Amino acid sequence: MKIEDAREREAANFLPVVKRHPVALVSGAGSRVRDVDGREFVDLMAGWGVTCIGHCHPALTDAIAQQAGRLMQTTNIFYTLPQLDLIERLAEITPPEITRSFLVNSGTEAVDGALKLAHRATGRSQFVSTLNSFHGRSIGALRVIGQDKHRKPYQGLLPEGRVVPFDDLDAAAAAMDRDCAAFIVEPVQGEGGVNVPTDGYLLGLREICDANGALLIADEVQTGIGRTGRMLALEHDGVKADIVTLGKGLGGGFPIAAFLTTEAVAETVALGEHGTTFGGNALACAAANAVLGVVVDEKLVERSAALGAKLIDHLRAFAEQHRDRVDTVRGRGLLCGLVMRDPQRAAGIAARALEVGVLVNVTAGNVVRFFPALNIPEQDLWPAVDAVLALVADD
Ligand SMILES: Cc1ncc(COP(=O)(O)O)c(C=O)c1O
Repeated sequence: MKIEDAREREAANFLPVVKRHPVALVSGAGSRVRDVDGREFVDLMAGWGVTCIGHCHPALTDAIAQQAGRLMQTTNIFYTLPQLDLIERLAEITPPEITRSFLVNSGTEAVDGALKLAHRATGRSQFVSTLNSFHGRSIGALRVIGQDKHRKPYQGLLPEGRVVPFDDLDAAAAAMDRDCAAFIVEPVQGEGGVNVPTDGYLLGLREICDANGALLIADEVQTGIGRTGRMLALEHDGVKADIVTLGKGLGGGFPIAAFLTTEAVAETVALGEHGTTFGGNALACAAANAVLGVVVDEKLVERSAALGAKLIDHLRAFAEQHRDRVDTVRGRGLLCGLVMRDPQRAAGIAARALEVGVLVNVTAGNVVRFFPALNIPEQDLWPAVDAVLALVADD
């Protein structure tokens, strides 16, 4: 297949809402992927933070193959072993107050479930969210998304949201009242530009929620499963959330997500008030169990913290030498962003990186985001990062 063929076939049959790079990928192993022409790329974006244990990790492909040959789908009205194993594992890897989970197919569905749960638990219908947040694209998730470019085309379907600046406790307190079911926040904003809040922000949000009888929802779809150097990013601040969402890395490339909650919140829903056909199917759960096994056994959370710290230092050292190009560097664990001064220059980085054999993503207009697999070999990481930095420095 040539790229021209791909373009033509897409133009005829794909809904034109995705801007593609002129690359057709066919295989991947570890942190490397190959295209139809046999070109190899080092993957610094891990399928948007998804392939946390690399591409086609044998533990994951074996688990999927074995489960696929045994049982894939039963509906949730029957028990399956993989799902029981997974809900127990999720309770083990999350803070002690988080005991209950419900499994779905995407981060967006997890966010929708979280909003529904908060509504049932409080009887309230308002939500407060943060500017530049990303929570997904269903009508429920768009309700709380903090990016106009995603909301605007569907404004007619959405109630007016209460969106406040991220990392601003005064604004959060002012927006919160006794109509609010919950404050929903990403512990580190991913799509919004890798925005790391100041220490105490999340604890402050907790207090504001408590003072108003509202819940705190931590959207950890991007930050969860070790991405920021802790299993959940919430752990950095020791803050307790009422509801947590997970997705992306949970399946390591297989679609599965979850929303998780406390006993107190779980008690407020009744049988039949939520459900799904595919969510929690045996195949997806077997995949997630394999991923969590690798993450724990190979100590990838700890690796994310250690390697992420080195990566941030490396990016900061580069930024020091290129003040004309780089505004700042932000990040936690292996979720790092290099903020370029000139959005026009930033816009070309991802395409130019392809020419030097690297997949990298630019988000929020000017933030070169590095979020590779948590087990990326250093011999892949550093040359790829330096190749991207050379493009940033280039005239
Ligand atoms: C924080 C956060 N929440 C929710 C979502 C939506 O997840 P999905 O694309 O799997 O529906 C994303 C996706 O980028 C995300 O980053």
